[in-house]
Amino acid sequence: MNQQQLMEDSLVIDDAIQQKVFRLSEKYKEVDQNIACHLDRLYYTEHTKYWDYIHTDTLLSIQHPKTTFSDEMIFIVYHQITELYFKLIISEIRKITGTKNICDEDFLVGLMRMNRYYENLIYSFDIMIDGLDQKQFLEFRYALWPASGFQSAQFREIELMATDLENLRALSYREQPSFEEGRNKLKELYNQIYWKTGATDVKNGKRDLSLVHFIEKYDWTLLNHAIKFENKNLWQVFKNLDSKTITSPEREKVVMELRRLDMLANIDWRLAHYKAAIRHLRTNVEVKEGTGGTNWQAYLPPRFQKIIFFPKLWTKQERENWGKTWVIGALNQSFK
Ligand code: HEM
Repeated sequence: MNQQQLMEDSLVIDDAIQQKVFRLSEKYKEVDQNIACHLDRLYYTEHTKYWDYIHTDTLLSIQHPKTTFSDEMIFIVYHQITELYFKLIISEIRKITGTKNICDEDFLVGLMRMNRYYENLIYSFDIMIDGLDQKQFLEFRYALWPASGFQSAQFREIELMATDLENLRALSYREQPSFEEGRNKLKELYNQIYWKTGATDVKNGKRDLSLVHFIEKYDWTLLNHAIKFENKNLWQVFKNLDSKTITSPEREKVVMELRRLDMLANIDWRLAHYKAAIRHLRTNVEVKEGTGGTNWQAYLPPRFQKIIFFPKLWTKQERENWGKTWVIGALNQSFK
């Protein structure tokens, strides 16, 4: 590089830098701040290091097995990975539900991201199915009793942010008429939510300890969540999309991705999870209890709970056959 070119380059850089300094000074002027102080702050600030930014030390210090079984670490880490994916899913729902008059394109981007996360979770569930030693699992699980993935608050939040409470009522209640409009309607619906019924003894109405603990910690928060998202959950946002673009190709894709989300969250993930329960809780001689105390063989299969976030996007036949294998192929059919 010759002298002349060097000078030209530095001039270009100077110009670019000047523009940035100008932009910065404008930003600080707006809040009555002196840019010089902030440039000094920059000068004295340490370079960012990967481990500080990602908080690797913290991240790697929050796995605390309760036993000496080596596979308990896999069990803990995989639950934590799942919770992080749930966090990403919630973040996408928040973006969609928090944007006023969202357009089809942005809705679509968020849905596709969520579906990608679910696909990863479903694919990776093999870590729990094939990658976990049953003998070890059946021993170390006593150490965490009565804790259960059933107590995942984020899992419940996703449901409440995705659909109307009506669709989360236990199936037996869903067949009955809903409540009158009024102050307590949401509370009444929330008390009939499927997972409360699932961990309650049908004969004596007694709640399992796992549910009692969960309610003690999260009931209030989740009910408030239900109230907050009553009119802005994913289904409500979809219904309020601009009616002028109802026949656009983007709208068709939104419908497809909503249906895919329903399938991934409410059939495929649940089936992968159920497979893990079968693999580990069913032995040659007996069916073991889940740590969360449900009658899991009747509770976990999607075809029994029939949780469907967007029932209006499925035909009657598809809803009736929810969770039965042929529905998997239904996505390729056009929506009727
Ligand atoms: C060996 C692996 C696993 C087994 C055997 C298993 C077993 C069970 C069982 C039996 C239940 C029903 C509640 C109970 O009676 O305890 C349940 C619920 C649940 N588990 Fe797991 N689980 C496993 C892994 C996971 C993982 C990795 C997650 C991720 C967070 C998870 C999340 C959940 C959720 C969200 C529920 C409630 C589902 C619903 O209400 O529909 N589980 N699990």
